[in-house]
Amino acid sequence: MTRHFLRDDDLTPAEQAEVLALAAAMKQDPFAAKPLAGPVTVATIYDKPTLRTQASFSSGIAELGGHSMLVDGRLAGIGERESVADVARVLGRQAGEIVWRTFAQADLEAMAAHSGVPVVNALTDEFHPCQLLADLQTLAEHKGSLAGLTAAFLGDAACNMGNSWALAGALAGMHVRFGAPEGYAPDADVLVRAKEIAEETGGSVSVTPDPVTAAADADVLITDTWVSMGKESEKEARIAVFSPYALTTELLGHADPDAVVLHCLPAYRGKEIEAEVLDGPRSLVWDEAENRRHAQKAILAFLWERR
Ligand code: NVA
Repeated sequence: MTRHFLRDDDLTPAEQAEVLALAAAMKQDPFAAKPLAGPVTVATIYDKPTLRTQASFSSGIAELGGHSMLVDGRLAGIGERESVADVARVLGRQAGEIVWRTFAQADLEAMAAHSGVPVVNALTDEFHPCQLLADLQTLAEHKGSLAGLTAAFLGDAACNMGNSWALAGALAGMHVRFGAPEGYAPDADVLVRAKEIAEETGGSVSVTPDPVTAAADADVLITDTWVSMGKESEKEARIAVFSPYALTTELLGHADPDAVVLHCLPAYRGKEIEAEVLDGPRSLVWDEAENRRHAQKAILAFLWERR
């Protein structure tokens, strides 16, 4: 059966470790593995703004020996001019894999159900699993291993990054804490699933409204924009709600002395993260951005082998 990567828990804990090991190997020797030689075409579609995702998929697919085909979602009129299912049936006849950044997780699921080829989530409103592979790869590089580490995610945990951290961190056997205001925890069903996974892996998942409790002795502090794509009309209200959760030098002082900082970018200095933290010595954000390429190559190769 065709495998997809629509959400973080589409991989088992062992498979996540396998993909991360493959990503590390691909980083060591970026041109060694050519599973998409032919070249196999990978269709990429971006319905929301993108920089890192488009750039890293394009370069990564080239390094795998494949061909990256940009499909303009607006020209195609996906879901308007023709249904997601029909688009999937057509693209599945032209491309070996499909990468899609879009709004609704249900649309991505429909693409996967009808394409007949592996589909990769390049961000939806609900999950950002490729980013999490890059985040975990980055953390493993700097900490040696992941199981048992404590991660604190501050701010808007109700977004795709919050949901994905709950699932992917649990899969890796980490202790994931969310420091988020009332009403901005990860999705309730996602939390239930993440806690089930954590039972299996020896990790844990918790939510607290107190940023200092979340950050205390943590090995990694993570944040994301307070205004995710699609939430622009709520900007002012969100800044007011999330201000106490900013990732500042002071908050970093509560974390482990060797704590590192992750941010998926784009970052808003002076809002969710202080410039001194983002641009400071604990920040791994540029490695994290680079690792998108290696991690995504690994998941494309993993799915292609199992198609
Ligand atoms: N939560 C952010 C992630 C950006 C990569 C958003 O959806 O806009």
